[in-house]
Amino acid sequence: MDVKKHYAESRKRAEEMLAKMNLTEKIGQLSQFGTSIYTNDEQVFEDHFAEGKVGSYLTIKGAEKTNRIQELLLSITRLKIPALFAEDVIHGYRTTAPIPLAQAATWEPELTKKSCEIAAKECYAAGIKWTFSPMVDIARDPRWGRIAEGYGEDTYLCSDFARAAVAGYQGDYIGQKDHVLACMKHYVAYGACVGGRDYDSVDMSMQTLFDVYLPPFKAGIDAGAATVMASFNDVNGVPCSGNKYLLRDVLRKKLGFSGFVVSDANSVMELIPHGYAKDGKDAARLAFGGGVDMLMAGDLYNDNIPALINEGKIDPKLVDDSVLTILTLKYMLGLFEEPYVDPDGEGCFFAPEHLEAARECAKNCIVLLENNGVLPLSKGKKVALVGPLASDNIAVLGTWTCLYDKDKTVTIEKGLKELYEGSVTVSKGCGYGDEEDEGDWKKEIKSAVAKAKKSDIVIACVGENRDMSGEARSRSSIEIPGHQKELIEELLETGKPVVLLVGAGRPLILSEYKDRAAAIVYMWHLGTETGHAVADVLTGAHNPSGHLPVSFPRSTGQIPVYYNYLATGKPAYNKRRFEAKYQDVEIGALYPFGYGKSYTEFAYSNLRLSSDKMDKKGQIEVSVDVENVGEYGGADVVQLYIRDLIGSRVRPVKELKGYKKLYLEKGEKKTVTIKLKAKDLAFTNDEMKKVVEEGEFLVFVAHDSSDSELSATFFVE
Ligand code: NOJ
Repeated sequence: MDVKKHYAESRKRAEEMLAKMNLTEKIGQLSQFGTSIYTNDEQVFEDHFAEGKVGSYLTIKGAEKTNRIQELLLSITRLKIPALFAEDVIHGYRTTAPIPLAQAATWEPELTKKSCEIAAKECYAAGIKWTFSPMVDIARDPRWGRIAEGYGEDTYLCSDFARAAVAGYQGDYIGQKDHVLACMKHYVAYGACVGGRDYDSVDMSMQTLFDVYLPPFKAGIDAGAATVMASFNDVNGVPCSGNKYLLRDVLRKKLGFSGFVVSDANSVMELIPHGYAKDGKDAARLAFGGGVDMLMAGDLYNDNIPALINEGKIDPKLVDDSVLTILTLKYMLGLFEEPYVDPDGEGCFFAPEHLEAARECAKNCIVLLENNGVLPLSKGKKVALVGPLASDNIAVLGTWTCLYDKDKTVTIEKGLKELYEGSVTVSKGCGYGDEEDEGDWKKEIKSAVAKAKKSDIVIACVGENRDMSGEARSRSSIEIPGHQKELIEELLETGKPVVLLVGAGRPLILSEYKDRAAAIVYMWHLGTETGHAVADVLTGAHNPSGHLPVSFPRSTGQIPVYYNYLATGKPAYNKRRFEAKYQDVEIGALYPFGYGKSYTEFAYSNLRLSSDKMDKKGQIEVSVDVENVGEYGGADVVQLYIRDLIGSRVRPVKELKGYKKLYLEKGEKKTVTIKLKAKDLAFTNDEMKKVVEEGEFLVFVAHDSSDSELSATFFVE
């Protein structure tokens, strides 16, 4: 496919179409309709068809429905411009992959690419050609429920996953069969909401915005992301859904985005409660004028843009520009040639290869946090599987599931019984703490404990229900919720080795269990193949290789705790009173960013640099020998961090600048070489210029972000 030609031809056809359109039809292309996520009413807005007021739909699922609506629309509208169906296909359409945060724990963007390809294939079959994914918001606050939907706290890692997700959804070119448009969201800094409260304000330095929050968007734009979603929040006092500077000057001019921007659901109307717009018309003016091409969802643009043009408040040329971009993408997608989908295509749902890929991804997401040797499980033991997640076929799917089928979920119980050669008893113990009536939990805990007492080993499957993380699911405490902590205490009391198997959409507080559990396995919410992946890890069929994409705090009050914080004048070394620390909690994360154990051990030695001098536009190579010195074959994630020792602005104490995941057989040794490019050392200075500054840098090759054992020095000249 000649991509440039494909674009040029589509653009030309879009221009020809534009010439035939009246203003109502043009604005119709900027208007999306569909089920309201808030009311769940599915509205087709047929009365709008004749005038051409519908350009896109959201939340209409399935080939039969999308075809039916498309047919109706095409039979009524004058210009027969097909609708573009969109959906929140966040981690799978029917086959549910692990939540994105879990996927980031693989440190293998290729697995995410594959998982997005599968999601695209399944939703494409249902007539959905545009997904509202990936979410590339950096999240430093686990109280924020939407931390589940992104790739964690680090800009470098998140950028890699942004690229991979866009490539997976969109394929080699826009319009490739079985691929869909990606939408990077939420532009911008949505994850930095104050107090971790979803939708709340964001106040940050422009340098942090440019260095931490914007790069994942830039990475996705460079990978060709066709669309971007404007976020609900304000940044420094200006709501993003009407933020001309961020949407037009930064996104389009500075970052080079050439696709279209869609608002978030109702985010334009919300300019009113923000106190930024005085009414709907004013909101439409600010949003569209500010650079939000398409409205999700409703008639605000249809109803107001004509008058705003008449009054000279909106330049009609801007309308043409937005329509052209949207139409060009519709032509590129091939919607005009083939507006329908073959319903037989839906036969690909839950295809064996989709399940296999979901399992492969899921088992690589699991992070082993602690292990006193109890894992992998030895054969022939009596295992007591206890806890609300043990047999749950919905919670483990996580937030933002699309059209899941709970009967396809492999529960932990099912997976373990299939794979483990030993006996397995199961009891719920208690609920998650979110049900109105939790039933007689004391009795349930008692019966679970009785079973635990008869076992050799207890696996406590605890954590969050699927709706405890995700949109509007912020929590003021990220302790293990409900009566589960009581359940764990009682299980520990039995004296049996207790493996904590924690499933959640965010980091939870594990301080109390770090030294008391026989093992802690963090499984997040892993999707359809949960049970298989968990059993693979617990039995040792797969040696865990997940590493945390986010820091795990010691207590909720310690939040935010992230590894790449700025150096302070009173660093916390725990030596003096006057240090940047708390009195009542240890310094640093309980489990730092990048942390993850294995059943084997890896030793690093012989760190060397290709040069200890780096040109401002150059690069050096950092090499280290990695040896598997333990008892099992396994995969390791070698991580490269830097520290810019002196800067014209205060620099982070560490920054991830490279990593490599590799598999080593027991006893095997390999050299890993990672390129470190000068441009990756750049930061935004006081004049808002991206600069690489001269001077001394430390480079660390590390097991995680807290590991400073192996370091070397180089100078940028
Ligand atoms: C609101 C959410 O913020 C966004 O992520 C989602 O894509 C839209 N609603 C559509 O459901």
